Amino acid sequence: MLNLILFGPPGAGKGTQSEQLIDAYNLKHISTGDLLRAERKAGTELGIKANEYIAKGELVPDEVVVGMVRNFMKEHSSSKGFIFDGFPRTTPQAEALDNLLSEFGAKIDIVLGLEVIVDELVKRLLLRGETSGRADDQSEETIRNRFKEYQTKTLPLMDYYTKKNSYVGVNGMGEIDHIQSSLREEINKVL
Ligand code: C5P
Ligand code: MG
Repeated sequence: MLNLILFGPPGAGKGTQSEQLIDAYNLKHISTGDLLRAERKAGTELGIKANEYIAKGELVPDEVVVGMVRNFMKEHSSSKGFIFDGFPRTTPQAEALDNLLSEFGAKIDIVLGLEVIVDELVKRLLLRGETSGRADDQSEETIRNRFKEYQTKTLPLMDYYTKKNSYVGVNGMGEIDHIQSSLREEINKVL
């Protein structure tokens, strides 16, 4: 199995880069944000509850997100591996992911951190908000709160994975294809 995390703040390009990587390496894409939005669209209890957090730019409780990831992985247990996009977001989520993967006899092989300066992130999110219909991309206040959540709860994971020797930072500014090549270069090193 090949399991990788695309790490980075909102707007870093995790979703965009995942699209090409899943085809190139035959992996399953797990975007917890997409899963939560699908639940909301389907009007499930989980989706309605999650939206209270999403609308404010806050993080959905760990057990909810971890449960969703566990279900997804079990449903796709024959997959060659997973790309985790937007997950884990907290240390307890990272620990839960390690445990989940060990049930598959697998581990996180590499964490690719997309590095983008804040001004560029805000610009990208507001631009995406014009077409995505995502309310959390349209309000500067919500965007600011998402960054705050990232700084306080998610950024410590950089240290968590650096200690495990799996974190690699990649320049996330510039051409999409160029960034894709940099990511593949790093992935190919651990294959
Ligand atoms: O990952 P994405 O940017 O699509 O997430 C959008 C929102 O979904 C986040 O701002 C947060 O409210 C929620 N979310 C979460 N926990 C995750 C992934 C997403 O709370 N692991
Ligand atoms: Mg995304």
